[in-house]
Amino acid sequence: MADTEKKRSQQMVREESAYMAPAARIPYYDLVIDHGEGAMLYDVDGNSYVDLLASASATNVGHCHPRVVKAITDQAQRLIHYTPAYVYHTPEMELVEKLCEIAPGDTPKKVVFGNSGSDANDAIMKYARAYTGRPYMVSFQGAYHGSTYGSMTLSAISLNMRRKMGPLVPGVYHIPYPDAYHAGVDHLSEEEQAAYFMRPLIEATETYLPADEIACVIMEPIAGDLGIIAPPKAYVEQLHAFCKEHGILFAVDEVNQGMGRTGKWWSIEHFGIEPDLMSVGKSIASGMPLSAIIGKAEIMDALDFPAHLFTTSGNPVCCAASLATIGVIEDEGLIERSRELGAYAEKRFNEMAEKYDIVGCVHGKGLNLGIDIVEPGTRTKCPKDALKIVYRAYDEGVVMITIAGSILRFQPPLVITREQLDFALDVLDRVIGEVARGEVADDIVPEGKGW
Ligand SMILES: Cc1ncc(COP(=O)(O)O)c(C=O)c1O
Repeated sequence: MADTEKKRSQQMVREESAYMAPAARIPYYDLVIDHGEGAMLYDVDGNSYVDLLASASATNVGHCHPRVVKAITDQAQRLIHYTPAYVYHTPEMELVEKLCEIAPGDTPKKVVFGNSGSDANDAIMKYARAYTGRPYMVSFQGAYHGSTYGSMTLSAISLNMRRKMGPLVPGVYHIPYPDAYHAGVDHLSEEEQAAYFMRPLIEATETYLPADEIACVIMEPIAGDLGIIAPPKAYVEQLHAFCKEHGILFAVDEVNQGMGRTGKWWSIEHFGIEPDLMSVGKSIASGMPLSAIIGKAEIMDALDFPAHLFTTSGNPVCCAASLATIGVIEDEGLIERSRELGAYAEKRFNEMAEKYDIVGCVHGKGLNLGIDIVEPGTRTKCPKDALKIVYRAYDEGVVMITIAGSILRFQPPLVITREQLDFALDVLDRVIGEVARGEVADDIVPEGKGW
């Protein structure tokens, strides 16, 4: 597609740059969206795209699902907002019950709302410290948990999330994420991998981090921004057992990987574990600003008002959108769909890995895959080729970005049709071939683009 066909978008992006601060956007290409429908996006120049990003996994039921649109418009006509900090409204009351019903495990749960995944992870820190009376938190290297001070401290993915802003929240320690392939230990048995990755935490608790002073370990059961990495089951089981043994809460961040994304409601369900606390955001309300902590009731009773309230959290329009979104996932069988179409896409990507030596490992679960782009025949990351693929795909009508330097992020809306999926996979097959054969010039990717 020639540049001239994206004239209006390019002009608008140029003009916006005078007003928009750089901290809030990771720039890829000049896509100015006019509207979306299902898994399709349409730009202001009239071009159409298959969306393989789903607004960073925030629109699992697709763009402008009619049932979600109706719920939003109906609710907006009745009441746009009244803060649940002082009163009650029906969407909020129905939603807390529904969230407790679909949360993993049988222990009674309670919910608190927020406005973003970031503040939900701050809430995990608050509740864990309050309930245990302990100061320390453990999270993972490479994790992304958000942009507020607490969640930024839990994260460890980018120096730009640290530089010039310290000191951060005290008492947070990071351990390696159990990513066997990239750590080069995937040749070991699962038990050996688990032991390998448990060692840093065990050593820490034997030397400088008293286990009985750790409030909580927070983990993405499948790591999103780290590259869509599913850890060894034995590791998650052992970590959970270690937490139980030492009275440490086990919290999971389901902001990116929850809401059906991985072929289960929650990614922790792949490991058969009931977490103590869980943060949910993004697709919970189809991208409307809503987040929630769902936790064991006893833990959620550890804080009293006004320890965690926001005027706009639990907004009725957002709660109505959330109820409709959950209804769509249930009634349209989207969890099953994620599993089935995900298995199909994984097979197609593995075929590409056979054909092209720049495609390394394919990993993830459900419609939720990371595809490593590497120096030919090695495991060495190749961000340049990954970005070339992304740019060529964009030219051909497919929206996709990279994560963790050179991993293609595949997270389409779960409503994507088989035809749309095949279109996107055919495009990727073609453009990966072009990049593998050295047919794509370096200057297709402008300076300073991408993660
Ligand atoms: C795993 C995870 N946790 C938390 C967040 C933060 O959510 P938000 O951007 O809504 O604050 C994100 C966002 O990308 C995420 O991927």
